[in-house]
Amino acid sequence: MSDAVLNQFTQTVEEEKKVVDKKFKIGIIGTGWIAESHIESYLQMEDCEIVAAADLIPGKAEKFIEKYGVTGVNFYPSHKEMLDNEELDAVSVCTYNKTHAECTIYALEKGVHVLLEKPMCVTTEEAVEIMKAEKKSGKILSIGFQPRGDENMKMIKKIVQSGELGDIYYIQTGGGRRRGIPNSTFIEERTAGIGAMGDIGCYSLDMVLNAVGYPKPLTVSGYTSAFFGPNPMYNTPADAARFNVEDFAAAFVRLEGGIILDFRIAWAMHPDTPGDTIIFGTKGALRIPSTECWNGSTGGPMTIYHDVAGERVETIIPEIEAPSNDKGLFYKKVRSFLDAIAEGGEAPVPSKEILYNQAIIDHIVKSSALGKEIEVVIPEI
Ligand SMILES: NC(=O)c1ccc[n+]([C@@H]2O[C@H](COP(=O)([O-])OP(=O)(O)OC[C@H]3O[C@@H](n4cnc5c(N)ncnc54)[C@H](O)[C@@H]3O)[C@@H](O)[C@H]2O)c1
Repeated sequence: MSDAVLNQFTQTVEEEKKVVDKKFKIGIIGTGWIAESHIESYLQMEDCEIVAAADLIPGKAEKFIEKYGVTGVNFYPSHKEMLDNEELDAVSVCTYNKTHAECTIYALEKGVHVLLEKPMCVTTEEAVEIMKAEKKSGKILSIGFQPRGDENMKMIKKIVQSGELGDIYYIQTGGGRRRGIPNSTFIEERTAGIGAMGDIGCYSLDMVLNAVGYPKPLTVSGYTSAFFGPNPMYNTPADAARFNVEDFAAAFVRLEGGIILDFRIAWAMHPDTPGDTIIFGTKGALRIPSTECWNGSTGGPMTIYHDVAGERVETIIPEIEAPSNDKGLFYKKVRSFLDAIAEGGEAPVPSKEILYNQAIIDHIVKSSALGKEIEVVIPEI
């Protein structure tokens, strides 16, 4: 019986799509850390060329491109000059969260496809403005949630969508690290806008919301705090002094369809984990061991708890190993974006889904400031 259940969830490795006969002209906006994974992916592909790079920090884009030995690239001091002066097919927006909206909107207004790093932006209002520009432009906008390309992550959705768990009514998710506060531009409101939620919390939300079909959030009772980041006991004195975002967040979210989402995320905490992810359904439950899902990992084999022939049974879902020729999650993220452009299909990670991810985060911030549960308000697009 267990085998029959397991066989429903056997691995499907998608064949790589045929490369089209056109070289997409690509620009990179923001040449910091994550831009490396973008350029390294583009450089493996025959159907694109890097023609422009921009960064606010003088000389940074030049140094970045030089490292990869790419020639014929034009450099710009911001996204605006780049988009005003180049005829681009697509850009990767790899800037810190606070400039995601302005860079993405400007690119879409110029008729350029956008691969936007996660989180989508900082506020619900920004997400809505991005989507208005997307709608007007008719261009592809995909959000950079590369764990979606992992076969184990896909399995979560497959299990939920198969009906094996029945109707989903409660989800607990989140994660974090005992100590794991980043530095650089991640810890200041001026650049990041949000802290642990924008860095890692958005991935935990995406893991479960994608599985259940991204229901609309209705109300949020949220909490944010920062007991570690600004404390020189747990951070370097210099970083502690400038730290002004959340290092912990928790929330109780009501979703359309009667689903309750119980969420918590930590950059630092005293326990080793805030718990496993568990999806409760009327016919069964799925446990995903406490995981750094942002790395595309389910943290070990998952378990389905259900009744079989009147007996309570646990079915272990073995972890799927990536094939030896797998090019990795970042490659797949970029490849699926270019394929969507070439084929005129839907964005691999569409904004209409991530809008709800962003709205939950933003309403956690707002609810926490007010100290009470609030309704989720999403302006019309
Ligand atoms: N997908 C992932 O696994 C992953 C991993 C890390 C970071 N990220 C995301 O990537 C983004 C960037 O992170 P990072 O670690 O590379 O940050 P970073 O601070 O190293 O780099 C961001 C760069 O963007 C530049 N920039 C900002 N606004 C600009 C503008 N208008 N025009 C041109 N350049 C501009 C900054 O000067 C900076 O050099 C963040 O939103 C983060 O959440 C995603």
